[in-house]
Amino acid sequence: MVFAAFRSIGAYIPPKIMTNLDFEKILDTSDEWITKRTGIKERRIAQKNEGSSDLGFKASQIAIQRANIDKNDIDLVICATVTPDYLCMPSTACLIASKLGLEPVQAFDISAACTGFVYAVSVAKAFIESGMKKNVLIVGAEKYTSILDYTDRGTCFIFGDGAGAAIISASDNKSEAIIDVNCSSDGNYSDLIQTIGGGSLHPCSQEVLDQKLACIRMKGNETFKLAVKTLSADVKVMMKKHNLINSDINHFIPHQANYRIIKAVGDMLGFTKEQTVVTVDRYGNTSAASIPMAMNYAYEQGKINSGDTVLFDAFGAGLTWGSALFPFSPKK
Ligand code: UT7
Repeated sequence: MVFAAFRSIGAYIPPKIMTNLDFEKILDTSDEWITKRTGIKERRIAQKNEGSSDLGFKASQIAIQRANIDKNDIDLVICATVTPDYLCMPSTACLIASKLGLEPVQAFDISAACTGFVYAVSVAKAFIESGMKKNVLIVGAEKYTSILDYTDRGTCFIFGDGAGAAIISASDNKSEAIIDVNCSSDGNYSDLIQTIGGGSLHPCSQEVLDQKLACIRMKGNETFKLAVKTLSADVKVMMKKHNLINSDINHFIPHQANYRIIKAVGDMLGFTKEQTVVTVDRYGNTSAASIPMAMNYAYEQGKINSGDTVLFDAFGAGLTWGSALFPFSPKK
């Protein structure tokens, strides 16, 4: 039997910082309001000439190097993003594979918004366990600043840019195996977070441009309530299914959208501050990149060790949600 092992993590954090004080200069808002309502203090901004593939490429280089594999042994590249370099084609995964200089390889994107990286883990696991692939590069890469309306004070200040990546490889050692991934969706709530324009229903037009319909629109408050409910329910199911108690989890890594959501979910589930990884204060919400960037942050702080049990918990537009449970299993 072949198992899928989570071998490495990497991230690219764009150096340019936008603080809440910078938002005070362009919006009717304040550092105090943003900090109190979200916990966010600053977020990162990619350069004008960078696309999500450039961010994903840099994160991937680190993940590949830390996995200690030859890049040409990668036989599948998956990029989770809702801010692809190009709206329809080519996929961002193809661009990342090319920038990495990989030999021809299967590569495709996943569109599951903030849950995208957890969806990517589930697909990588399935490809490996079926025997079809041996080394999968998964990437969460977002340049959210490319779809923000900086006059929308209810939404624009929570998002930022960045990328995270991981290598998932075949292993014959069951103790290294990703234990479970559970992903789901409910399109009945599709209107809560949307980019209305630029797709097949409302193709690019002067109206789309004038009304900024290709920018993200979010019903923040309704989304907030559903996020707390869904994120906690999802983890309860996962923990019960595997007979786990809180102390079995070393690192709880929830989607980084709002510190109040993270705190409410953590409290409902009974995870301690020490178990819960928080980066929303420094990176804001980076959608599909948020979970791998948070994991990378904890890893670089020296907190994540070989064999530690990690629990991802994501929620986003779609609506989509998902959780993943696995031991961190670098190659010995
Ligand atoms: O990542 C995918 C999933 N996304 C999420 O999980 C995001 C979930 N939502 C949120 O994090 C929060 O809803 C926000 C941070 C986006 C907004 O916080 P909120 O506590 O839900 O605020 P609200 O939209 O209910 O607005 C409360 C008040 C309103 O004023 P009135 O009507 O009470 O007078 C808003 O106009 O706050 C006002 N407001 C602001 N004030 C200062 C809204 N945005 C701002 C702002 N600065 N930036």
